[in-house]
Amino acid sequence: MSRIVITGGNRGIGLELAKAYILNGDQVVIGCRQPSEAAELASLNPTSIFPIDVGDEQSVKAFAQNIDYPVDVLINNAGTSVSNMGLERAQAGVMNAPIDLTLEMIKINGLSAAMVTRELADKLNPGAKVANISSQIGSMVVGARFDDLPYSTSKAVMNMVTVQLASHLKKNNVTVVCFHPGWVRTDMGGSGADLSSEQAAQAISTTIAALTPEQSGLFLRWDGSTHPW
Ligand SMILES: NC(=O)c1ccc[n+]([C@@H]2O[C@H](COP(=O)([O-])OP(=O)(O)OC[C@H]3O[C@@H](n4cnc5c(N)ncnc54)[C@H](OP(=O)(O)O)[C@@H]3O)[C@@H](O)[C@H]2O)c1
Repeated sequence: MSRIVITGGNRGIGLELAKAYILNGDQVVIGCRQPSEAAELASLNPTSIFPIDVGDEQSVKAFAQNIDYPVDVLINNAGTSVSNMGLERAQAGVMNAPIDLTLEMIKINGLSAAMVTRELADKLNPGAKVANISSQIGSMVVGARFDDLPYSTSKAVMNMVTVQLASHLKKNNVTVVCFHPGWVRTDMGGSGADLSSEQAAQAISTTIAALTPEQSGLFLRWDGSTHPW
């Protein structure tokens, strides 16, 4: 039995990850913005559901204080999109995107992985794994073709946070990677996406289980193959 912490576990990929680990018999702690509204998650009987807004440092600190046992797997999954933040995709390109909104998204989608991980660092077991759910759009290659400044820069920041955490936590034998989870049928990915959220979650949890310390600092696809930076 492992102890798992997942942010944004009330819907989408995070909810399916929670299901996969709960079915596996693991202890699962979920962070989400509105625990009282997370009915589907609550029906799975996770160990705990605590409030967290990953873009708010005080909320992240309060979340971490709720966790009083060693953690084996931390999944920094919570993330948002320009449409969730009230911006039309047509206005999200590098020539148009509002800078304040872009900075806010960088905090939520990118720097949150640093905020959450450092608050939990003392509680990560030796041998623990940290998985940051990034996106291929944070890669320099794919991002060059995707005209969405807030989302692409936020995930590029998450990728940088990943390699820095990997270097820093190596001495604690903690493995840190970031994932492109695939194009997944969720509210964010849309109904035409390639993978179901179950398929993505199964593949990601299987890849996390097989991670070795030598892989720390890598950018992986859901299936464990290496993604180019
Ligand atoms: N779906 C895809 O094709 C795809 C592709 C590449 C990467 N990703 C990444 O995969 C992750 C999960 O995405 P998804 O497809 O499952 O999206 P989703 O269905 O829109 O779910 C997003 C989750 O993140 C939570 N969240 C958003 N902002 C938050 C905040 N400030 N604090 C705490 N929680 C917050 C949401 O909570 P609320 O219910 O409170 O909004 C929700 O639980 C994201 O990081 C996303 O960028 C997804």
